[in-house]
Amino acid sequence: MNKQLRKAIIAGNWKMNKTPTETAALIAQLKGAVQNPGCEVVICTPFTSLPCAVEATKGSCLHVGAENVHFEASGAFTGEISAPMLTDLGVEYVIVGHSERRQYFAETDQTVNKRALAALAAGLKVIVCVGESLAQREEGVTEELVRMQVKIALQGVSAEALKNVIIAYEPIWAIGTGRTATADQAQEVCAAIRRVVGELYGQTAADGLTVQYGGSMNAGNAAELLSKPDVDGGLIGGASLKADAFAAIVEAAGK
Ligand code: PGA
Repeated sequence: MNKQLRKAIIAGNWKMNKTPTETAALIAQLKGAVQNPGCEVVICTPFTSLPCAVEATKGSCLHVGAENVHFEASGAFTGEISAPMLTDLGVEYVIVGHSERRQYFAETDQTVNKRALAALAAGLKVIVCVGESLAQREEGVTEELVRMQVKIALQGVSAEALKNVIIAYEPIWAIGTGRTATADQAQEVCAAIRRVVGELYGQTAADGLTVQYGGSMNAGNAAELLSKPDVDGGLIGGASLKADAFAAIVEAAGK
């Protein structure tokens, strides 16, 4: 099965949770709970927690990511954080295009693309989030919408840079709602994402792409979602804030 060709990645998206002090405490718990994982494990924290997270995860199996990044390297962008600022800290990953950024902070497919390009140019690994709203699912346009989001996000991304791209399928109606996509729904869209990447970059690139599912993934449903051939990992919100739940998802991904 092609699944062996790619890396399974479980990433926690802490969102606007945890002070630096609380971050140190949760990482201490995570280091105890997550040992010798059979997959790559990433925690994406608020900007203010990143220095502490990089320090606290040194020598462990945990990798650190940011939750957003600006597309310019520096300049008059009050309140923003650039990709070189993140890499200078030792941050390895960044999430771009999360639906909360799109919904509350006017993120568009075009700015997601610009952020992805800037992050890749700086040497970050980029988790690009895509996904439909409930209305779009009910209108039957999920696949078209997700294909378009992927195509625009990847404009100008070279085949070489694509190796540092992960795509997370996150149906908006499943985020933070407790309503998970069924494993078959997740598989269907993750497969469509791989197909469009195959059309753009060829089959080998598509086979090597890590596609995550995100949206109310938890210790109870992770194994079934991750058993699907095109679901290579998860982007975990709520359950990533509890060491035991997150460790159980990591374990399910390592099987
Ligand atoms: P959730 O969030 O796991 O709390 O649904 C997922 C996400 O927003 O990445």
